[in-house]
Amino acid sequence: MNRKRVAVLISGRGSNMAALIKAAQDPAFPAEIALVASNRPDAGGLAIARDAGIETEAIDHTRFGKDRPAFERALQDVLEAHRIELVCLAGFMRLLSPGFVETWQNRMLNIHPALLPAFKGLDTHRRALDAGAKVHGATVHFVVPEMDAGPIIMQGAVKVYADDTEAALADRVLAVEHRIYPLALQLVAQGRVEVADGHCLIDGQRVPEAGQLSPTED
Ligand code: GRF
Repeated sequence: MNRKRVAVLISGRGSNMAALIKAAQDPAFPAEIALVASNRPDAGGLAIARDAGIETEAIDHTRFGKDRPAFERALQDVLEAHRIELVCLAGFMRLLSPGFVETWQNRMLNIHPALLPAFKGLDTHRRALDAGAKVHGATVHFVVPEMDAGPIIMQGAVKVYADDTEAALADRVLAVEHRIYPLALQLVAQGRVEVADGHCLIDGQRVPEAGQLSPTED
């Protein structure tokens, strides 16, 4: 099997990255994590990746000042040097320019801790509670120039409870993130996801069960 070479881009603790690494340790998984790169040299996830025997690169964005194109050229060079075929953003806290995003069109995934298109941006769990949402969750989507938009590959939902706190809800959503990100990457790496009219089809279906993780009692 020709496993897709994947780079995971992180800025922080890297728990989603760790979930992807774990899934890819199975030789039957259709992708290998060939690189973990961070824009922050002190990102906790880098040590986790190194301990797992994965190559890492730190591309410190502060070295480039306001020169975003130079930062993105450096990033692109690193991705090319490692012959990367798919990119997974996992808590990567840098906006990417439209040009870079287009280079990776339908080959760059992101995970967002909400059921998009609800609650784009930050503080999603607090905002879901404030809004009185009854169900909350996480979304894996292809990256497009607009932030937290782009064709939805997979979503996972959790129930919201009456006595929920932001921290408790965040923990339950994170557990779902760790399940759906590897599943979504698997579908993409297997070539089962295509984008048509801005929507993802999985195995040619518009609302496939393979793209859904329903709320469970937890
Ligand atoms: C996750 O909640 C992810 O959805 C969001 O940033 C967070 C990253 O956490 N994009 P981690 O670094 O993967 O633990």
